[in-house]
Amino acid sequence: MNMYDIIEKKRDGGILSDEEIQFFVNGYTDGSIPDYQAAAFLMAAYIRGLDKDEIYSLTKAMKFSGDVVDLSSIKGIKVDKHSTGGVGDKTTMVVGPLTAACGVPVAKMSGRGLGFTGGTVDKLESIRGFKTSLEPYEFIKQVNETGIAVVGQTAHVAPADKKIYALRDVTATVGNLGLITSSIMSKKLAAGSDAIVLDVKCGNGAFMETLEDARALGELMCHIGKGDGVPTAAVITDMSQPLGRAVGNSLEVIEAMETLKGRGPEDIQELSLTLSGIMLYMGGKAADPAVGYEMARNAMLSGAGIEKFMEFVKAQGGDPDIADDYSLLPKAAHSVEIKAEKDGFVAKIEARRIGLASQHSGAGRATKEDSIDLAAGIYLEKKVGDAVKCGETLAAVYANDETKLSNAAAEAAKWKVAALPAWFCPRRADPQAECYVGLLQQFPVHVWLVVVP
Ligand code: URA
Repeated sequence: MNMYDIIEKKRDGGILSDEEIQFFVNGYTDGSIPDYQAAAFLMAAYIRGLDKDEIYSLTKAMKFSGDVVDLSSIKGIKVDKHSTGGVGDKTTMVVGPLTAACGVPVAKMSGRGLGFTGGTVDKLESIRGFKTSLEPYEFIKQVNETGIAVVGQTAHVAPADKKIYALRDVTATVGNLGLITSSIMSKKLAAGSDAIVLDVKCGNGAFMETLEDARALGELMCHIGKGDGVPTAAVITDMSQPLGRAVGNSLEVIEAMETLKGRGPEDIQELSLTLSGIMLYMGGKAADPAVGYEMARNAMLSGAGIEKFMEFVKAQGGDPDIADDYSLLPKAAHSVEIKAEKDGFVAKIEARRIGLASQHSGAGRATKEDSIDLAAGIYLEKKVGDAVKCGETLAAVYANDETKLSNAAAEAAKWKVAALPAWFCPRRADPQAECYVGLLQQFPVHVWLVVVP
């Protein structure tokens, strides 16, 4: 077997065998297959597509390219949650404590932000002293004692994905259904949970921009998870505008705590309770996702969720007093407000643009080596459908570096306020969203579709 023949076969639309896919993954991971051949293979797979068996083989080969984590010494059904990536997505910091407070253990590996999307590990690092790397025995001990631990992905879990993802990132081969599915599911299946809940983001701030594509991704990932013996559910959720109002690391930690206290924005609250409800159902604590939703809601309203958050922060070396005093979190030295230039309604807030603006402010990195400004980011005073008056503040941009602040403000200011008639006040003014109206009647506004096993 050689790589040239495998590339040629895929280029011509052939279906690869399990052995051929394994040959590629093993060879690229151990360095015997060079970047140029791997890039050619990925482009052929991107253009020709991969069928279900090929995707399953790719997922399996990447899963076994490194350690498969053994969480069997953690009591109870461990349920993982994964977002396909978005802007302002701080749900792990809300969903994790709520779910743990209701008795389902959360043993989670999270990622860092790259490009215009954020990552939970960066957000948690804005809490002084918080350790995002724990020895395996410490991780397991913490989950057994407090019900929750969140750490960064180690280099030993699915190393093939790490290498392949970095190459896809620079060869325009990220946005392919089979490649995304195998990338996400190989990591999740290697992380050792008993069940998985996937939050598939849909809209211009996500890899999947249409409901059809997001549904196909959700269904495929569920199929792969179940095929590996792990119950997997998917929820398709709105990423046409940022989730919540805060985008940026310490800003998002504050918004997550506000949500745990029952004072968060409606969209983040709704999504967090929905995800937690499904996790409680899959973790065997709720009869169905709706009962789980109510349990999570009660944990939020009773204060059990924020208490669990403080316990979790303390267990990982962070300062739990941040929950009572937000000034203990990093605060930016400079800020600028973006003002509306006319009366009207907010017609659109492109999640991708706000994510980019946040990245420019210093909150995100352009390359893996960049350091980030934990206090930087954007706070949206208005969301889609809100009425605005000329001169009112649409958003505030924060940064410690003044050049970065003005770059971020220039990006964020490309904001659309439509001069619509006064009677027009839609929940969702983006015309592309019209096709989701049927689904919106069935599910909360921000959660479009739920696929449970
Ligand atoms: N997230 C991943 O981990 N991999 C992808 O391919 C896309 C999103």
